[in-house]
Amino acid sequence: MKKNFDILIAGVVIILGVFFLFFGHVRDMPGQLPNISMNQPSDKADNQTIETEESPLPIPPLLEDHNPDPNKAEFHLTAQNATKEFVPGKKTETMGYNGDYLGPVIRVRKGEEVTVKVKNELDDITTIHWHGLAVDGDEDGGPHSGIQPGETWSPQIKIDQPAATVWYHPHPEQQTGKQVYKGLAGLFLIEDEVSDDLDIPKEYGVDDIPLVIQNKRFNSDGSFDYDLGMRDVMNGLQGNTMLVNGAVNPFLEVSRGMVRLRLLNGSNASVYELNFSNNQSFHQIASDGGFLEEPAKMDKIVLGPAERAEILIDFSKLKKDETVQLENNGSEFMTFKAKGESLENYTIPSNLTSIEKIDPDQTVKTRDFVFEGMGPMVNINGKQFDIDRIDEELKINDTEIWEVSNESGMGMMGGMVHPFHAHGVQFQVLDRDGASPPAGETGWKDTVLVNPEEKVRLIATFKHPGDFMYHCHILEHEDAGMMGQFKVE
Ligand code: C2O
Ligand code: CU
Ligand code: CU
Repeated sequence: MKKNFDILIAGVVIILGVFFLFFGHVRDMPGQLPNISMNQPSDKADNQTIETEESPLPIPPLLEDHNPDPNKAEFHLTAQNATKEFVPGKKTETMGYNGDYLGPVIRVRKGEEVTVKVKNELDDITTIHWHGLAVDGDEDGGPHSGIQPGETWSPQIKIDQPAATVWYHPHPEQQTGKQVYKGLAGLFLIEDEVSDDLDIPKEYGVDDIPLVIQNKRFNSDGSFDYDLGMRDVMNGLQGNTMLVNGAVNPFLEVSRGMVRLRLLNGSNASVYELNFSNNQSFHQIASDGGFLEEPAKMDKIVLGPAERAEILIDFSKLKKDETVQLENNGSEFMTFKAKGESLENYTIPSNLTSIEKIDPDQTVKTRDFVFEGMGPMVNINGKQFDIDRIDEELKINDTEIWEVSNESGMGMMGGMVHPFHAHGVQFQVLDRDGASPPAGETGWKDTVLVNPEEKVRLIATFKHPGDFMYHCHILEHEDAGMMGQFKVE
């Protein structure tokens, strides 16, 4: 059986290889993309930048809370079709929550009872998943929780986790990649006493700035190109035009002081390696599920699809009106302009929070998750997604170790990195191939990059009942079936 599967994969690889040879580079012809940046994150040698006028960075609005009770919140979201002008003079068909692209920021406090009324005004079924929230399966918004066109879904969520930058996006079976690509995604911020008390920038939109980083591929008529070629089926859709909060080539005026950036890699498939053009170092203060215990100093940060990081960057040494760029793999895609007087009286807190380490001795069970296959054959543990099949059964409140390894695409065509994500829970990373995780991964995580031939060991306590997904967060892999289900009861 296993042998037949291998032969099948080899056959598929050869067929895909031939397709790739014929069609793989045709779609990247520069002539198809007037007026937009041609930064090619995956292929620096091809880099050509076509100048686009810079525009101010859009800051997604904070969503209004309709419940006056301080311990409760009610938010309204509508998923809708829209158009937006990314390429000057051309209209792009998009999807957005309450707007034309992306969605507003939902901000809540730990302990709050939150209701979100999500209306589907699209033509297709959708769902809304709270990526990074520790919630019961019924509220999680996975593929089971479909919202038909015209209908409203109103989950009630008790916020029971520390301050963090999490996010929301659709999760309909086989349509996640397309709907996210068209613009459905937004940030969800949790605050608590720890974030209140920390002396860090916290004025939203002023010195506490959300950056939703994505990349797209446009057709010459300005429409999004989500016509998956073989290369996209293999690697996921890796766009060649960077967007931040939905804008191409944006700038942000910042004061000459400390700025907090909440970074989300909201792209379908690309891994970013981010740094500042002046090679200035910065401090990572939070990972997916909240603050690190101590700030981690670095001069570049790698973020896989769906991963978040909060960083503090000190602009006080910049001269008045000096600019610095944010770069991915050495290509700039956003500009900061330093304004006003220099505010140097800032120190970075040496301690941010305390995180109780989950004790591996508490582990009741160890499970293996192996990324295998490639292209349309991508799978986990030899199985592709089946909504009617529960792959793993867990007991509530158990602590488990999940060993995630990447054996996909080995041999002929080499491996690729897959980001592993599980719903409804936050993990701690025990080790990567036996070595302690890097400083940025010593806090709570819900998505981790797993490199070819690597094994990452995660530990978590599963406190929420229900049916949940685990999957590769390259959305084209998820849609192709690199996903499974676990049940906690
Ligand atoms: Cu962003 Cu299934 O998740
Ligand atoms: Cu998720
Ligand atoms: Cu993958």
